[in-house]
Amino acid sequence: MAETFKPESAQQRKFLSTPADIAVYGGSAGGGKTFALLLEPLRYVQRKLDVPFAAAIFRKQSTQVTNPGGLWDQSMRIYPLLGARPHLTALRWTFPSGSTIRFAHLDMETDTLAWQGTELAFIGFDEMTHFSEGQFFYMLSRNRSMSGVRPYVRATCNPDPDSFVAKLIEWWIDQDTGLAIPERDGVIRWFIRVSDELIWADSRAELVAKFGEESFPKSITFIRGSIYDNKVFLAKDPGYLANLKALPTVERERLLGGNWKIRPAAGLMFKREWFGVVEVPPADVAFRIRYWDRAGTDPEAGKDPDWTAGVMVSRERGTGLFYVEDVIRFRGQPHEVEKRILNVASQDGRNVMIGLEQDPGQAGKADVSHLIRALAGYNVKAYPATRDKVTRANPASAQAGAGNIKIVRGKWNDTFLSELENFPTGSHDDQVDGLSGGVNALSEARKIILV
Ligand SMILES: Nc1ncnc2c1ncn2[C@@H]1O[C@H](COP(=O)(O)OP(=O)(O)OP(=O)(O)O)[C@@H](O)[C@H]1O
Ligand SMILES: [Mg+2]
Repeated sequence: MAETFKPESAQQRKFLSTPADIAVYGGSAGGGKTFALLLEPLRYVQRKLDVPFAAAIFRKQSTQVTNPGGLWDQSMRIYPLLGARPHLTALRWTFPSGSTIRFAHLDMETDTLAWQGTELAFIGFDEMTHFSEGQFFYMLSRNRSMSGVRPYVRATCNPDPDSFVAKLIEWWIDQDTGLAIPERDGVIRWFIRVSDELIWADSRAELVAKFGEESFPKSITFIRGSIYDNKVFLAKDPGYLANLKALPTVERERLLGGNWKIRPAAGLMFKREWFGVVEVPPADVAFRIRYWDRAGTDPEAGKDPDWTAGVMVSRERGTGLFYVEDVIRFRGQPHEVEKRILNVASQDGRNVMIGLEQDPGQAGKADVSHLIRALAGYNVKAYPATRDKVTRANPASAQAGAGNIKIVRGKWNDTFLSELENFPTGSHDDQVDGLSGGVNALSEARKIILV
């Protein structure tokens, strides 16, 4: 028997049956949002129309479309069942009726220009919060159709308080708790956009009465998603829920709790009581690294300049536990910093790996390669600081929250723990960066050689 796909939860059904022009399916990870987005345009693809039905589903970057498990992979499970032919290089499906579903990216603001003159009856945004407000509303203007299908937009996302989506769906979210208001779930509202401002109403008639028919009001709704809706997936992959539960607080509240308001704040990323103190380092260590976060600027008198911090992190063989064995922290001119790092390296010995955070850009590269030459003979590696500090700290925060990071008793303990607790709003974060870098480097090392 042919495979059948259908909505698997009340929320998916709501999303797949709302008559709104725009529907945002937002909430925790794994609820089946992307899957529903892929199912949605199928209601029209079999219609034989004079102008064929054309749909496009966007992600921010093209690799996100073609990644394993991404849109293209998931579509391979579904669209062939309706006789569609794939065109991999164009990321397009053509159905026997002539209808098409394309996947595309809108990375740069200018990527929208490629769609000038295109008419799309269906526009999907997967991970809508990754796009800018400008991209979203520009594409909305491409949402028209000669096919006779009323143009419409469907979007999915996880909560992100800093995205334009948070503002767009404000009415559906309790602004105190950050959680979706159950009675408003799936309720339709109307808006018009006048010089980048949205004017809202409960009905179309209200807007037409005030602004006329030509104001073209659009209807929009928000539907909350939750992993707990997705029973099939929970049964098939129980580890996924466990992974969400193990996330650091902020990520967990967003991706599991569906919280649209939570932001990193002091005390959420790290808590003092998560770190057990031990008297001595573990006897059997698989890897040991001293990770340096170097101050970018020269110290100036009277200011509160950055510190250079070198955090020694090790990983115990067998248990996989992390140990912060030592923290060195000082301020100095660049040549003093270099001298000090060389001294510490010779005291630590050649068995300790050295990690150097590399600042973005050419200057960062030149600066780090100079230091690597000076450290010839040591196991030294540069780690480009590609993402923001909070993202880099997430793995360390998750491990700490699970009780997997111990610290060895030392004079540095208190300043170290205070800085961790105040992250990311405290005045300094060099020791946090050192810890994040150390934990990330050792996690990477473990993948290469199993502990
Ligand atoms: N109606 C359905 N029928 C069959 N499988 C489904 C259905 N809905 C979801 N799934 C499966 O559940 C899994 C998770 O769904 P999906 O990737 O759509 O979740 P999501 O809400 O987009 O998650 P994220 O927030 O992480 O992007 C997928 O592997 C998908 O194949
Ligand atoms: Mg998804």
